[in-house]
Amino acid sequence: MPNDKISVCFVCLGNICRSPTAEGVMKKLVDDSGLAEGFFIDSAGTGAYHAGEPADARSAAAAKRRGVILTSSARLFVASDFESFDYVVAMDSKNHAHLKRLAAGEAHHRKLSMLRSFDALADGIDVPDPYYDDNFDHVYDICLAGCTGLLAHVVEKHGLPR
Ligand code: 4NP
Repeated sequence: MPNDKISVCFVCLGNICRSPTAEGVMKKLVDDSGLAEGFFIDSAGTGAYHAGEPADARSAAAAKRRGVILTSSARLFVASDFESFDYVVAMDSKNHAHLKRLAAGEAHHRKLSMLRSFDALADGIDVPDPYYDDNFDHVYDICLAGCTGLLAHVVEKHGLPR
């Protein structure tokens, strides 16, 4: 992990739908802002069922329609990720509760947040799980709104150029 970079890990359950989408969106946003050099952006899952798999084809297609190529390979989030990352961003309340149990101490807890908490206009706190519901375009929009707010927060907090 390059420790001169601001590091962000998005976390969902399977690491094949929501968190790879958020990872791809965030990479595009920092790229479009000319800030890509200063960031390390990753994603992981609270479950390992899909470890090693690329993003779900339906998530990849929804992202591709917006010009974003998803490049993730699914992996399990491990407790030591709290040491490696500056921001650990959960997609839903269950992921958040799981991560809270893995967090050891105040420093880890401070790194933990939920994606939609950065979207002032969000109509809920969870990014809905699209795996069985097929709402991949909606999930993309939610990730875009959340990541836009997250980037604004990070830019402000770290005094980055806009
Ligand atoms: P994700 O979606 O947590 O957004 O990656 C899911 C992917 C797979 C499963 C559930 C949710 N699954 O049960 O296999």
